[in-house]
Amino acid sequence: MRIAITSDLHFDPRGNFTSPATIQALVRHIREEDPDAVLIAGDLAHGLRNFKECLSCFQGFEVPVGVIAGNHDLWRDPASGSGSLDLWRRHLPQVAKEMGFIWLEAESIFLSDTAIVGSLVWYDYSAIDRGFELSRNQIAELKARLVNDSVWIDWTFGDPEFAESLLRGLQERIHVAAVRPEVSKIFVATHVPILEGQMPRKADPVWGLSNAYFGNLTAGDAVLTEPKIRVIASGHTHVGRTGIVDRSNAPPVQYFVVPSEYGTPECLFIEL
Ligand SMILES: [Fe+2]
Ligand SMILES: [Fe+2]
Repeated sequence: MRIAITSDLHFDPRGNFTSPATIQALVRHIREEDPDAVLIAGDLAHGLRNFKECLSCFQGFEVPVGVIAGNHDLWRDPASGSGSLDLWRRHLPQVAKEMGFIWLEAESIFLSDTAIVGSLVWYDYSAIDRGFELSRNQIAELKARLVNDSVWIDWTFGDPEFAESLLRGLQERIHVAAVRPEVSKIFVATHVPILEGQMPRKADPVWGLSNAYFGNLTAGDAVLTEPKIRVIASGHTHVGRTGIVDRSNAPPVQYFVVPSEYGTPECLFIEL
């Protein structure tokens, strides 16, 4: 089983981020590699129209193509008059499904003995660097100075609250996959990283504080309890990472972060 996972495409026809031609070239490369499934792990584009155009580059695969939203996909979209909640609940899943993709927040992919389960996952501040003595409210207030989600995400959920509801859904889908007797391996794809080894740590206090908005380690702890999990792959940080988590009572888990940058999207081909 060979699974292609790309993330953080940031499709932008104006060329400020990633040009359509660059994304088309990436998709040609994925087709040549002939994987058993393709995953697009969030941050396709800002704006519904760009999201749709980015997805259209991925049409025509004969294998399942799963899609996860990223935080940028949920930024309010003045052009279509859609707010973050509308995009999240209605427009993005609808567009993806109508175009023939699998919306992983609702549905998993089953390929013989392997299940692919996915979620956006939201940050709950648990990935902040050690040593910060800040309350959740203080971290919520500092977000306005550190990340653009504070300007562009216009729903009223608190981050930890939204993170908890997404984690419940992810755990439920993992459970549904794990109880299937034919499933022996589960691949978990998320936009936001969930393991310590996936986090980019630096000796820089601003970066260390910003990590509050770049991971969710609570989700990692919960996901690792399922023995059938073999791979966890994520996006969002734009900083490539790979490693292995050993577990005492279950097989090890391989983890990855897709090393896409603005303008230079990447795809990993992961065997399991
Ligand atoms: Fe991104
Ligand atoms: Fe992101």
